[in-house]
Amino acid sequence: MTRLPDNIERVVFTEEQVSARIQEVAAEISAKYDGRDLKLIGVLKGSVFFLTALARAITIPLKIDFLAISSFGGRPQGATPGMVRIAKDLDDPIHDEDVLLIEDIVDTGFTTRYLLQTLAGRGPRSLGICTLLDRTVRRIVQVPVDFRCFEIPDRFVVGCGLDYKQLYRNLGCIAVLDPAAFEPDKR
Ligand code: IMP
Ligand code: MG
Repeated sequence: MTRLPDNIERVVFTEEQVSARIQEVAAEISAKYDGRDLKLIGVLKGSVFFLTALARAITIPLKIDFLAISSFGGRPQGATPGMVRIAKDLDDPIHDEDVLLIEDIVDTGFTTRYLLQTLAGRGPRSLGICTLLDRTVRRIVQVPVDFRCFEIPDRFVVGCGLDYKQLYRNLGCIAVLDPAAFEPDKR
């Protein structure tokens, strides 16, 4: 196995496990949206790696678009929860389209709920959520997750697009950061 970067404690899902699971979820999505106008919406930057792998594995025609958000204080702890704003909007309208929001992780649910509410106001034909990781033990607001690759426990993870201080997004696996290297307020 390739050497892990410094500050990585252990691998939770290997690159092979991630790829295999993405193929399965892509097949589910291809079946569910067959014959419809699917648009994947990625949330920059965390979902980019997942979105591109998923899009390559989906067998029906699709469009992609991206938006970027900034959340005040990172992961909403301490500061007012759910303080999110759109820093870069979609390029195109989504009116009357079947839209699937692609997330890296649904944690407390605040970010996803904000995005769902914002996108729902633009009149899509349908609006679903697909996430690479789902950490339901930390959920504060309920959001309807339609597709997810993996449920994960309450440990901060990096890789496959997920970062710690903007690092580790390019790791192919999903890994737990060494707690000694981790300052929770800097997420
Ligand atoms: P939520 O609003 O609490 O659901 O948080 C969602 C955002 O927090 C994600 O899009 C990530 O950017 C970030 N986040 C939450 N947990 C982790 C983690 O374990 N690793 C990296 N980023 C995380
Ligand atoms: Mg982040």
